[in-house]
Amino acid sequence: MTAVPHRVVVASKNPDKIREVEAVLAAMEHPWEIVRGLDWPDVDETEDTLEGNAVLKAVAASEATGLPALADDTGLEVDALDGVPGVHSARFAGPEASYEANVDRLLADMDGVEDRTARFRTAIAFVVPGSKPLIVDGVLEGAITTERRGDRGFGYDPVFVVGNRTYAEMTDAEKNEISHRARALRALAVALKDSEDRADLREGI
Ligand code: IMP
Repeated sequence: MTAVPHRVVVASKNPDKIREVEAVLAAMEHPWEIVRGLDWPDVDETEDTLEGNAVLKAVAASEATGLPALADDTGLEVDALDGVPGVHSARFAGPEASYEANVDRLLADMDGVEDRTARFRTAIAFVVPGSKPLIVDGVLEGAITTERRGDRGFGYDPVFVVGNRTYAEMTDAEKNEISHRARALRALAVALKDSEDRADLREGI
């Protein structure tokens, strides 16, 4: 039997994130049909958790489009900064801060700090109109470098190192193999499969 694709709107206005989400979904065994070209109102990320903000974004897109929507909210948690910037990663250097300004602030705050351990965490909410959100997350442990390395990727990629390479020194395919975002998307695929299997079981009763 051919698998019915999971139809979904990727509820993000960040082209860097959309590119990664689409590449990871395209490599999955179960097919995804990504619906593009739709619009929805911007939402303020007013929650104090990644999960809460992912739900806000996914609900806004699914309500406006009438389609299932998937939203990612990501934070960089630095141990020496007590988990900061975390849920505030996009606004670390101010409300409309650029990637460069956020990285500058991080390197400045970490100046002279010995413990450089950190992790990226992505929460993903998948919302089918009228249903409860499905929420999963993905984490990748790493460390913060003392200076930028590499020119690929986006955001904090030049200063987040895993093993001996920063994300910005990896190709897109290498990052998508191991990343926090890819882990969350794979967890979503497993959660969707589980819920479909449970629905099949209920129908079989
Ligand atoms: P948000 O999930 O759009 O709120 O992103 C939070 C912040 O983390 C933004 O500044 C992004 O640029 C950054 N960010 C999100 N995902 C990644 C990533 O995969 N690599 C590096 N930075 C990221």
